[in-house]
Amino acid sequence: MGAPAGVVPRHVAIVMDGNGRWARQRRLPRTAGHRAGVKTVRVIVEECLRRRIEALTLFAFSSENWRRPRAEVDLLMQLFLHTLRGEVRQLHENGVRLRIIGERGAFPDTLRRHMAEAEALTAGNDALQLQVAANYGGRWDIAQAAQRLAADCAAGRLAPTAIDETALAARLAGADLPDPDLFVRTGGEKRMSNFLLWQSAYAELYFTDLLWPEFDEDAFGLALADYAARQRRFGLTGEQVVAMSARAGG
Ligand code: IPE
Ligand code: IPE
Ligand code: MG
Repeated sequence: MGAPAGVVPRHVAIVMDGNGRWARQRRLPRTAGHRAGVKTVRVIVEECLRRRIEALTLFAFSSENWRRPRAEVDLLMQLFLHTLRGEVRQLHENGVRLRIIGERGAFPDTLRRHMAEAEALTAGNDALQLQVAANYGGRWDIAQAAQRLAADCAAGRLAPTAIDETALAARLAGADLPDPDLFVRTGGEKRMSNFLLWQSAYAELYFTDLLWPEFDEDAFGLALADYAARQRRFGLTGEQVVAMSARAGG
């Protein structure tokens, strides 16, 4: 049985962490952990479809991850390309719209081309909005939105006094999606690591010690159940929230 209506998050954001440690525990190279992590991505995408979650944003590669050993970065790029090529048809058949968020100028040409092709192919789908954050950083996102605001002001399309939270938010990556309701991080660390900083201002945070390759349907179900049991107050008192939901008939 699924969670009652209204307590299913519209948008889930996940920091997929722990691939390296999963591999080390098995005396495998870190890259084996990344490969195993791709399987978990498949499982969680299917769960989101099944549970009719509108949007899923996965943190695949941060703007800081370029600092890793060259061989690991190269393998990750190969894995992106391979996964995009291998999965896009199935995603399309399942009605998934795929978008890549992040600064993609730094990626190899072939990868950029496949990203653009996958986005174009799936642009009309609406069963699940899947965003993959690659070379993404929350601070980068806010800075690029600020650049766009400045460009609009310079071009006379926007008055500086019209810059407010809505105007900035409209220029962030994934601006057409609702903000994440649930922010999950696997791998035991309790930090955001520069993921969706602005958009997660009011997200419910959920941390699990499970490493990303170990995370599965059941673990995701536990995260969703934990979310469903929380009271989101958005600055109100608990009593106000109870009164409001009683009025709304829930
Ligand atoms: C997350 O797993 C995947 C990426 C950052 C690409 P890690 O590679 O960070 O795994 P740990 O944290 O070293 O275990
Ligand atoms: C965050 O994981 C980025 C991704 C999951 C892609 P990291 O493993 O890079 O985060 P830190 O460095 O431990 O904060
Ligand atoms: Mg990590």
